[in-house]
Amino acid sequence: MLGFGTVGEGTYRMLTDNADEIARKTGARGEVIKIGIKDASKPRTLPATMFTTDLEAVVRDPNIDVICELMGGESPAGEMVELALSLGKHVVTANKELIAKHGSRLITKARELELDLHFEAAVGGGIPVVQPLKHQLAGNDVIKLMGILNGTTNYILTQMEENGADFSDALAEAQAKGYAEADPTNDVDGFDTMYKISILAAIAFGKQVPLDKVHREGIRKVSASDMKYAKQFGYKIKLLGICEETADDQVLVRVHPTMIPLGHQIASVRDVYNAVWLHGDFVGDLMFSGRGAGAHPTASAVVGDLIDVMRNIIIGGSGSAIPYGTGLATTSISELETRYYLRFEVEDRPGTLGEITTAFGRRSVGLAAMEMRTKVGGKGEIAFLTHVCREANFLTALEEVSRLPCVAKVENYIRVEQ
Ligand code: NDP
Ligand code: HSE
Repeated sequence: MLGFGTVGEGTYRMLTDNADEIARKTGARGEVIKIGIKDASKPRTLPATMFTTDLEAVVRDPNIDVICELMGGESPAGEMVELALSLGKHVVTANKELIAKHGSRLITKARELELDLHFEAAVGGGIPVVQPLKHQLAGNDVIKLMGILNGTTNYILTQMEENGADFSDALAEAQAKGYAEADPTNDVDGFDTMYKISILAAIAFGKQVPLDKVHREGIRKVSASDMKYAKQFGYKIKLLGICEETADDQVLVRVHPTMIPLGHQIASVRDVYNAVWLHGDFVGDLMFSGRGAGAHPTASAVVGDLIDVMRNIIIGGSGSAIPYGTGLATTSISELETRYYLRFEVEDRPGTLGEITTAFGRRSVGLAAMEMRTKVGGKGEIAFLTHVCREANFLTALEEVSRLPCVAKVENYIRVEQ
């Protein structure tokens, strides 16, 4: 094992606590021989002889058949995974950043060498979604796939919405529970969800999406006010990763806070839970849900992958890496057609509403619903839901509206998923 943090220690515990169960189901006993860590001075729950800071020595140890990479980040994780494959060792990793950025190269290498490279824990924590997408669902043309893919941000949004929690307090709780990344901006600003949706898109569509073609927004702008209006309009606000086929046979991949109707299955996914919803041409609508982060759920996914590797070793089977190319053709988000929620601070005087609706009308952006309230100091607040319109049109209209003298501030806008 490389890494003995939240996931590493959880994995070790599951391998030891459930050793008999695992042996019964695989017909063999695996053993953790050595654990690579960074800081030798940290107190550990295992004897010091189990640990080393010499990662390469672990990877090169001839008694070791499988490397379980649970450190995170691109380096040294990438070099160690590459070295392990070169030495003919199978790899299991929970590292979404590594797979999203270098998956194509690493998975192709594993495939050529007939080795296993598994990464179930990289997406959705304990939810089995990577393997079903690779195998049982592989015959489907996936039309659309979307999900709550980050436990930390779903936990924060749930705490804000249900308990009126402050953003930074909720983030601190998510960190204490072991949900957040080493740098939690990866969670809050949508990078983690971007890595995960790009991995799912690569499996669903057979090629890796260039990460700079994924539209990404985090949750920092979502306020209690937005949550209140969302509820009035019949929606919840969730950070979603979404990929879908577009008319030109390309794929649009995006990450942003999204208003989702209360009746949609995804709207009821709370707390650290994640969900992946998809529509396939034969299977229809399908949703997977479960705990998306934390030591035990993630260990469950890592150990599942290790069991797969053990079974392959026993039967002398070759690796199960899938074709995973590069250069998936993508559509720009400016082509997106959807509904929008938007909220303004305005001058509270006669004519304001008419000026705003006329300006939107000039750009063919139709308004479908509205809520307003008076604030102190001669100001008011208006929230709208638009009809379906093209993102480029919507943004042009919004820019023009923001320049009206009656509009004090555009507070926020959020895309709406039907
Ligand atoms: P932690 O920060 O808790 O643990 C990281 C471990 O890796 C530590 O043991 C650390 O050593 C070791 N490590 C980090 N950098 C190095 C290095 N340069 N050299 C040697 N050892 C190093 O992370 P997590 O357990 O939370 O996450 C691990 C991986 O799992 C990441 O890829 C993460 O994205 C992924 N993941 C995490 C989930 C979660 O809920 N936390 C869920 C799903 C995936 P030391 O102990 O000495 O500091
Ligand atoms: N930081 C991640 C999350 C861990 O909160 O979802 C699981 O990948």
